[in-house]
Amino acid sequence: MQTEVMSWFDMEAPIFAFTHCPDVAAAVSANGGFGALGTTRTTLDQFAIDLKWLVDHSPNRPFGVDVMFPSKAPKEFEEMTPAQIRTLIPREHEQFLDHLTAQHGLPVSSAEEKEQWIQDYVTKRLRTHSEAGKRLELVYDHPMAQLMISALGVPPQEYIDRAHDCGMKVASLVGHPKHVARQLEAGVDILIAAGYEAGGHTGDIASLVLTPQVVDAAGDTPVLHAGGIAKGRQIAAAMALGAQAVWTGSIWLGTSEAETTPVIKDILFESTSGDTIRSRSGSGKPVRRVKGGFIQAWEAEDAPRPLPMPLQSVLVEELFDKMDKYQTKGLLSPAAGQTIGMMNAETDVRGVIYELMVEFGETMANLEALLGDGG
Ligand SMILES: Cc1cc2nc3c(=O)[nH]c(=O)nc-3n(C[C@H](O)[C@H](O)[C@H](O)COP(=O)(O)O)c2cc1C
Repeated sequence: MQTEVMSWFDMEAPIFAFTHCPDVAAAVSANGGFGALGTTRTTLDQFAIDLKWLVDHSPNRPFGVDVMFPSKAPKEFEEMTPAQIRTLIPREHEQFLDHLTAQHGLPVSSAEEKEQWIQDYVTKRLRTHSEAGKRLELVYDHPMAQLMISALGVPPQEYIDRAHDCGMKVASLVGHPKHVARQLEAGVDILIAAGYEAGGHTGDIASLVLTPQVVDAAGDTPVLHAGGIAKGRQIAAAMALGAQAVWTGSIWLGTSEAETTPVIKDILFESTSGDTIRSRSGSGKPVRRVKGGFIQAWEAEDAPRPLPMPLQSVLVEELFDKMDKYQTKGLLSPAAGQTIGMMNAETDVRGVIYELMVEFGETMANLEALLGDGG
């Protein structure tokens, strides 16, 4: 069985994997799926290292690169000093964060340290179109880099055209059927319908409702179903809705290839499907995360309202770095979808793909038997 989109990328399994870990992307592509490497958490230098690792470990297998083109990319930030950017953050928010930091025994930064951190963040990690462009420059000429994915909003035309000129396809995540038309007009080749239960940035429409609407609006353009995939039964359901494959994320966080720390793996394996929430506190836009201490603090009644993107990231990502460094279990609130309730022990990529495909095959056979018996 091969759908059109699978044939574009020589795939044996209808499984696309979004991941920030080059090892996971390489292993998924090597095992018949399609690995898509996220670029938003890494500096340009680190991305170059990750890319080389991915290519070396999965030679001659297609892969994708996921970039963010936020519709309000803050060009002006690139011309402001760190002290000027810091003045955009209300005092109340900074105090709230300092208090949270101290409460959990983490070091509170001085004004100079905060400004130095903002300087590093803005020059190396801020999600602007030009930063996305620099990462893409590293992949355009690579014959196996066959898909550019845009996480937020319609990719700018120049990037769509350049990807097409290099022989790459372009995919975009959509969380609402009303966003489909603009994506198609811009020339996007694949739509990814990202449902409410998905990890990371997500909209508020359940995938069972969203995918068929996106499929209907997409016409001949292939659609991938994103959100809630941890079992082969769910892949069969997604394809019954009209998707040509699934786009997955959370399920790879629990694999041995993932860079997920042991503390975070424990959090994921101990959590149920009711333990995640969509919160604006990480980036300014709704992201599904585990309801850890960081999220709970922002959900409290007396907490300030999260700032718009990208100021909220400028405010909180210094604390994220500290939480990562010290693995502060009381605060950690990793991005993850509702499928974490179906993940309870470490797996590996090959095993996950194998189990998904076995159950997918069984489900298709069961459905046939079910309908056969009924008829
Ligand atoms: C930890 C994590 C980080 C994510 N970061 C991004 C990102 O940077 N860009 C993006 O397009 N999607 C991101 N996503 C969303 C995935 O692309 C995908 O839509 C989602 O994981 C699918 O739902 P699932 O988590 O239920 O499998 C992220 C997901 C997770 C779990």
